[in-house]
Amino acid sequence: KRRGKKPVRVYMDGCFDLMHYGHANALRQAKALGDELVVGVVSDEQIIANKGPPVLSMEERLALVSGLKWVDEVIADAPYEITEEFMNQLFNKHKIDYIIHGDDPCLLPDGTDAYALAKKAGRYKQIKRTEGVSSTDIVGRILSAFKVVKSPKSSDMDKLDSKNSTSCEGSQPKHCHAHFLPTSRRIVQFSNCKAPGPNSRVVYIDGAFDLFHAGHVEILKTARQQGDFLLVGIYSDQTVSELRGAQFPLMNLHERSLSVLACRYVDEVIMGAPWEVTNDLDICIPGHCLSLKDIIICPKERKVCKHSVYIPLHPYLFQMPFICSFCVMLTKKNVFGHKK
Ligand code: CTP
Repeated sequence: KRRGKKPVRVYMDGCFDLMHYGHANALRQAKALGDELVVGVVSDEQIIANKGPPVLSMEERLALVSGLKWVDEVIADAPYEITEEFMNQLFNKHKIDYIIHGDDPCLLPDGTDAYALAKKAGRYKQIKRTEGVSSTDIVGRILSAFKVVKSPKSSDMDKLDSKNSTSCEGSQPKHCHAHFLPTSRRIVQFSNCKAPGPNSRVVYIDGAFDLFHAGHVEILKTARQQGDFLLVGIYSDQTVSELRGAQFPLMNLHERSLSVLACRYVDEVIMGAPWEVTNDLDICIPGHCLSLKDIIICPKERKVCKHSVYIPLHPYLFQMPFICSFCVMLTKKNVFGHKK
């Protein structure tokens, strides 16, 4: 923030359905264009009218956006189009200086630009859209995984494998559609780049964190409240496949790591953490080895030693199972009607 000057307030809106690291990266770039970032989460009705039904509810999308480290304020039920009335509300009530959107065209059903008025007023700025990920692409991955679950005949698996053979190399599960590999710069951009202090109590929690959802935000928040520094272990793609089936994870290790890193409660991640947390507590982060004062959080059945704690899942998680995001998707019939 510039000394003595009023903070520059920027506004970015969006559907943020099945929130992914492309959305997180857009909000990161938006925040860098000002001092305070206000995010408008578009209402279910407006998404239905302009794009087709969203997979996640308003409540879930709000929880995900609010959990991002770059977001200062959220506006629920924002309009899809920046109308004159809403623009004046942004300028006068919310003291917004600039309205920001990705460099992809955002058109209304009649073909006009949703940001035309903001552009005309000279209060529009653009950020670069992140290639290689979209909500539509993620819905495609869920549907492919569902196909594999429904008909696990080897011929179907073979078809899927050959279709994806160019993008699924190394340790990635054969089913995986992701093309994404992050650069070290992107990881640094998402990271807090802070180590725990000498006396901080480190909290360790591990998991797959596939299809990062509102339940994850909730559990990470609870975990962070147990200590001073939250270290998150993210299982390798191979470990997730072994635990949940060959069609998982839907997001690869790098994608899952960026989603977790973007969460405001997370200080550091281990990319490819082991399933077993041994009694020697031999998980190290630079400058810090887990010690007796630290806390390991894990499910009841995996209690690893007397220093670990079990955090009963937040009531919200009962509505949205923490264990399997995939089941959540399948119970939402509208996933099949989703369109870009
Ligand atoms: N965005 C981005 N990179 C992506 C996806 C989205 O920079 N890969 C940006 C959009 O340009 C927009 C904001 O994130 O400024 C919110 O996007 P949203 O309204 O949720 O929808 P889409 O742009 O359609 O993205 P998606 O299909 O992934 O939902």
